[in-house]
Amino acid sequence: MAVKQGEKGFQPLTEAAAGKVAGVASRGSFVTAIGVITATLGSAVGLGNIWKFPSLTGLNGGASFLLVYLLSTLFVGLPVMISELTIGRRTRANAIGALQKVAGSDRTPWLVIGVLGVLSAFFILAFYTEVAGWVFAYIVKSVSGGLLSTDPAVTTGVFTSLITDPVQSLVWQWLVLVLVGFIIILGVSKGIEQTTKRLMPVLFALLLILVVRSLTLPGAGEGLAFLFKPDFSLLTKDVLLAAMGLSFFKLSVGMGTMITYGSYYREDQNIPKTALTVMLADLSVSILAGLAIFPAVFTFGYEPTAGPSLLFITIPSIFASLPFGSVFMVMFFVLAAIAALGAMLSIFEVPVAYLNERFNISRRTSSIIIGVLLALVGSLAALSNSLTANLKLFGLTMFDLFDFTTSNIFLPVGGLLLTIFVGWIWNPKETEDELTNKGVIKNTSVVKAFILICRFVSPVLILIILLNGLGLF
Ligand code: TRP
Repeated sequence: MAVKQGEKGFQPLTEAAAGKVAGVASRGSFVTAIGVITATLGSAVGLGNIWKFPSLTGLNGGASFLLVYLLSTLFVGLPVMISELTIGRRTRANAIGALQKVAGSDRTPWLVIGVLGVLSAFFILAFYTEVAGWVFAYIVKSVSGGLLSTDPAVTTGVFTSLITDPVQSLVWQWLVLVLVGFIIILGVSKGIEQTTKRLMPVLFALLLILVVRSLTLPGAGEGLAFLFKPDFSLLTKDVLLAAMGLSFFKLSVGMGTMITYGSYYREDQNIPKTALTVMLADLSVSILAGLAIFPAVFTFGYEPTAGPSLLFITIPSIFASLPFGSVFMVMFFVLAAIAALGAMLSIFEVPVAYLNERFNISRRTSSIIIGVLLALVGSLAALSNSLTANLKLFGLTMFDLFDFTTSNIFLPVGGLLLTIFVGWIWNPKETEDELTNKGVIKNTSVVKAFILICRFVSPVLILIILLNGLGLF
């Protein structure tokens, strides 16, 4: 038997109303088709687009990385996403319960996907809340001024002084944790979902303004060449692994988030189409962020390889060269914070739901326990540029270690197991039933292609890139 979803369970949808779906009276469900898309997109779009994507693209050589990332999104990220949504809707259960249901046993080895998922949630949040903390700090700093400058020395200085200050690093991270924990305790209310739904288009519009400004800067040509003219000699095994890791991270797959979301999907929702739409929309946001940032990098003399600081040092420069720049900049960081919040909620929910359902601990207590644990583990990441800078494992600071192991090991292993399960273990009839909505949608070729990809393409690619990237093959 699957673990039962509590009455006050996570209802990531605006109009989430209990009992709309036949046979699952006690569970929430997405009611409108557009709500399904915005909810799924709300988890996918986050700091991954505006912070991680530009930083990794810059570090790994630009266009060639982007190309591998695109291929990986198509042949790895998307199939894993469809697999998760399918398992979720088929079972109408939380991530771990869903695996128990599809495997037909409570003690199935496939549970390892769920266990890795809970661990991943933990380690991702440890560094994600820190970056979100920087975003919150930048809202305050943009309001008070002093941030707007096209001089790299100034913008880099502001960022460096923030991240090397242990007190500011911790305070901002803990504030973020309290905020996320608080919202999770309340349950995801209509308010948050409605707000995210309305604000996403505003983020998109603001990004467009930035892109237009950036493309009219003198360094635009160089920025575009960096982003779109591939140099294949730059493709090393590390670059391949980073690109694949990003494709998991971006679509929020490999750790059960999408199983949970799929479990709230409507019976008539077209799963492959929804997944494709979300993937394309998410990709557009990332490309827009790249188009905004790289021309500025080359115009104002930054290094594309600046890594995690890239967003925080380039964005103020672009705004500094715009009329009403400070107003726009406040808006930009507020929206970035909202996008980050939506993504964090979908991650935080995974361990909370696990404690809540597995050990019968209330959502409130579960959230507090997870929040406190996260504050402890997270501070190791938060202090990575100050007090714990010398605490390294495999040559990586805790911040980098958590980031690397989740995206590049845990999520791919989860994805590998999920695609093997759907491709080889699960009865294809069940997959077909879900993907065609029990024969209503005539998309047999899509179903066939999907199953073939899950059998022969995704697991093989994941395995090769993973083993090769880790130097094991
Ligand atoms: N996709 C989100 C982003 O780009 C992060 C995220 C949300 C995530 N849920 C996840 C990453 C689950 C991995 C797994 O910011």
